[in-house]
Parts: sequence; structure tokens; C-alpha cells
Amino acid sequence: MSARWDGLLLDAKLATLRDDLGAYGAIEDGALAWKDGSIVFAGSRAELEDAPGKLADRVESAEGRWVTPGLVDCHTHLVFAGTRAVEFEHRLLGASYEQIARAGGGIVSTVRATREASEDELYRIAAARARALRDDGVTTLEIKSGYGLDFRTERRMLRVARRLGREAGIDVRTTYLAAHALPPEFAGRADDYIDAVCEWLPQLHAERLVDAVDAFCEGIGFTPEQTRRVFAAAKALGLPVKLHADQLSDLGGAALCAEVGALSADHLEWTSDEAVRAMAKAGTVAVLLPGAFHVLRETKLPPIESFRAHGVPMAVATDLNPGTAPVLSLRLAMAMACTHFRLTPEEALRGTTVHAARALGLRDRGTLAVGQRADFVEWDVGHPAELCYWLGGRLAHRVTRAGR
Ligand code: NIG
Ligand code: FE
Repeated sequence: MSARWDGLLLDAKLATLRDDLGAYGAIEDGALAWKDGSIVFAGSRAELEDAPGKLADRVESAEGRWVTPGLVDCHTHLVFAGTRAVEFEHRLLGASYEQIARAGGGIVSTVRATREASEDELYRIAAARARALRDDGVTTLEIKSGYGLDFRTERRMLRVARRLGREAGIDVRTTYLAAHALPPEFAGRADDYIDAVCEWLPQLHAERLVDAVDAFCEGIGFTPEQTRRVFAAAKALGLPVKLHADQLSDLGGAALCAEVGALSADHLEWTSDEAVRAMAKAGTVAVLLPGAFHVLRETKLPPIESFRAHGVPMAVATDLNPGTAPVLSLRLAMAMACTHFRLTPEEALRGTTVHAARALGLRDRGTLAVGQRADFVEWDVGHPAELCYWLGGRLAHRVTRAGR
């Protein structure tokens, strides 16, 4: 086997996001090389030990562009049928998200549309969304079930997510979120539904459809007690957990995540300082979802200052879903994290790379460093802050996944 590298990119400004370097982990006269899908060199060009043509089979120029790790969207509900544009109109006329949910709309209306859609149909719709994310820099994507709420449809959603991972040019991690809402056939029997959710999981896991388990712990979702039962079922199979926590009220969701060693707690608008301290101790990532905050016109901010003070890693994701976040751009979520939550552009970028990877339990991506996967993006920007500055549009010049 040849010792030469597969590829070498020169004339690049690297935003490595390594902690041991300065802002953005920047290396301005950078070179990046990869072999067999992994990074084998990420440093300044002056450190290359030979002529580029001798080192690598393929040598290219980034033409002075900024290069970041491939973006990771660590919280999406991207597989669903239908839209909720009419619900959007109702909310603008004064109805609240909770009122609509309690009246049988909201999540359950997407469940109706998703149950009616075939696997191929769901794939086609979802692939277009995955493509939109990928084209502007996303190389790894988390996708939740949760619009089936019966075994067949939850399974169908997870199968579609897996197929996206095989065919859509993007890495996919799946999350089982059957505990998302109470389906009509279980009305008044939430505990029985949770029994069913726990019973379906081993079969789906056996089919290798599940990478993690999530729940919606909320007044219009499930109680902390019911959430604990779902987490116990996950733990019995060795699956990691995460949670829609403290979005509309403080039910202690983030604290529960810390207690059980969850990968992440997501939303967190109502999270208490005490829970933040527990998250810091447990190493739980805070996943911020400014798209849902924006669309629901929320005013209660997540405790950003407290996350900073206690060193809780903050990730940022689209939450792409038909109800609270029809967000088809991870960069737009980064921009909203800056404007609404006052993250710095560098924090937002760490939030969609290194911290987002960690929220998925992935240590092999999120920075430009030797040994990491060769997932990277060449951007048409003059400064990395532009990634958060422009609203919309497409800034990715080229997206490389595993060196290809
Ligand atoms: O992350 N909060 C619960 N789940 C989604 C919304 C789902 C929906 O409204 O369809 C969220 O915001
Ligand atoms: Fe969500």
C-alpha cells in the first residue's frame, strides 16, 4: 500500500477549532491532508516535510478559502410528511403551541400525515431536506423518529433515516423518539403508551435502527417518571439517551439528564442554575435550538451565561421539524443562536462542530486534527464570523465527507 496521502489541500485558512490554538483554532497558511477517510495532516504549510506533489496523489488549492470541520446537525426531526403552515397561521392569530397540541393538532397532525405516507414517499421528501443541509456544509445529521407513535410507522421513519445515511451523501445517527406525544388511540392512557414504547424498542434495536433514545418531557409530553421508564428501557439495551428538556416549563428534565448521564439535554429555556451545575459535573451537552425559540416567539432565554460560567459545552442544532422549527439551514440556526442567545460566532461554530459531535457521542469528528474523519467544508467567506452573519444563501464552496 502506498504511503502517499490521498489528498492534500493547500492555500487554506483552517478553522481547526482545536483548543490549543487561538480564536477558531485558526491556522492562516494552512494545509490539510487525508488518507483512507481520515485527516493525516492539519497544520501550517511550512511544516510539510516534502514537496506537495511527493506527499499526496492529489494536490488542490483552496484558493485562500476558510476551511472548517464538516458541520454536525445534532437534533432534527427531518423525516415527516405534510406541513403545519396552517397551524403557523393560527399561531400568528393568537393560538399558542400548547393550545393547538391540546386541541389535537400539533405533533399529532403530523403523525396522521406521516402514517399515511409510504416509505419511498417519506424518503423522497426527507432526502430533499437532507440535501439542503448538506449543500451548505452539514456532513453528519441526527434524525429522530416520533411522528409514527405506532410500531410500524416509528420503524418506517427509522428505516428512512438509515437509508438517508446510505444513499444521501450524509452520515446519519438515528434517535428513537416514540415518547414524543400521546397518539389518539392511547388517549387517557399515557402510562400504557409508555409500556408500548418500551416494548417496541428491543425489536427496533435488534434491527439496528436505533443509535440513541429521546423523549419529550413536558406538560404536553410526558412526565419525568414516564421519561425515566423510557430511559431505563434504553439503558437495558446499552443505548445512550438525550431529552427534550425544560422547553416550555421546568419539569427538571435537564437535572434528570445529568443524573442518568445523558449525552445531551436539548432546548433548556427553563433550566435552573442547579441543573446547570449538575450538567457540568455529568458532562451533559446543552443543545440549544434557537429556531424553535424564534418560531414560537419565546422570550425566556436558556441560561447561557450559566452554561458558560460552569463550562457546559453548548451545541446548536436546527431542530428541523414541521411545527416549531421549519429550519432548512444549520447556518441559519447558528445565526439565530448569535442574535437571540448572544453566542459569539465562534461559540456557534463550536456548537455545530465539536460540541455537536459530542452531543451524539462521536469523538471522531468536529475538529480539524490528525486522526479525525476527513469531513471538511471550504467556505466562500473572508472571515469565519460570516458563517453566522449571512442569513440564508449558500456559502459552502465544496463539502468533503470522509475524504470524498
Ligand atoms: O423539538 N418539542 C417537541 N418536539 C419538537 C416539535 C415537534 C413538533 O411540533 O412537531 C421540538 O420542538
Ligand atoms: Fe426537537
